[in-house]
Amino acid sequence: MSDPRHIAIIMDGNGRWAKQRGLPRVAGHKAGVDALREIVRAAGDKGLEFLTLFAFSSENWSRPKSEVVELLGLLKLFIRRDLHKLHKSNVRVRIIGAREDLSGDIRGLLAEAETLTTTNSGLTLVIAFNYGARDELTRAVQKLAQQVAAGTLAPDAITPELINGALDTSSMPDPDLIIRTSGEMRLSNFLLWQAAYSEFIFAPEYWPDFKPAHLFAAMDEYRQRTRRFGGLSAEDVQDLSAQTDTVVEPEIANWRQKAVL
Ligand code: IPE
Ligand code: IPE
Ligand code: MG
Repeated sequence: MSDPRHIAIIMDGNGRWAKQRGLPRVAGHKAGVDALREIVRAAGDKGLEFLTLFAFSSENWSRPKSEVVELLGLLKLFIRRDLHKLHKSNVRVRIIGAREDLSGDIRGLLAEAETLTTTNSGLTLVIAFNYGARDELTRAVQKLAQQVAAGTLAPDAITPELINGALDTSSMPDPDLIIRTSGEMRLSNFLLWQAAYSEFIFAPEYWPDFKPAHLFAAMDEYRQRTRRFGGLSAEDVQDLSAQTDTVVEPEIANWRQKAVL
């Protein structure tokens, strides 16, 4: 199969990485930023189009205040230290998640990162910060409901494409591959709508130990997968045609139309 265009990563296991070494959790988060830097560089070098990184979830506010403060500080530090280098590497930065709850200085930094890099044509680095899929969907529904209430949108005119366009990820392709590190096997409220047909890889390494070689191995595994999107693989279609000599019409639209008739 072809290369993934969009990889999304749930960077998990910083705390356990630190615990394993008898270090405070914040040491794991700092090591996590180093891992992030390397992975972004490797993804850019590989010519990946979109890399989405789950950095802070809308549920992570429930952690102890000191940890939340450290995580917010690390985001600020990362943008301050790395933005110009990212810009020079032709990386385009995009942020998804709710901005309103964030302080003015963080909002300013996020806006600066997006504005500075907006015309870059290399890797699009999407940072999911204060992101939760249910929150994103709720905000999208509110936007559409406002248009309906204003009389500028008919309820029947709401389509999956319109919903897509109201999400934080509007104009981005869905993730082809979602990787979660640290051995946990769940989505934790990440990209629920967009992950409808994503491939999943659960890597056992804690995030600070996740190296470019692991990313490349995941990309190799992805290439071995067969994606069907509810239809049949090209190979299966060929087998069927050979056996029955009937015309196979895989287009969903055709069948839908027939079912209605
Ligand atoms: C991921 O590591 C980073 C964030 C969620 C911000 P964790 O902090 O969740 O690490 P574990 O899961 O406790 O090991
Ligand atoms: C998901 O990890 C969020 C991020 C990686 C930013 P969590 O560590 O918060 O997820 P749970 O609580 O184990 O599901
Ligand atoms: Mg975790």
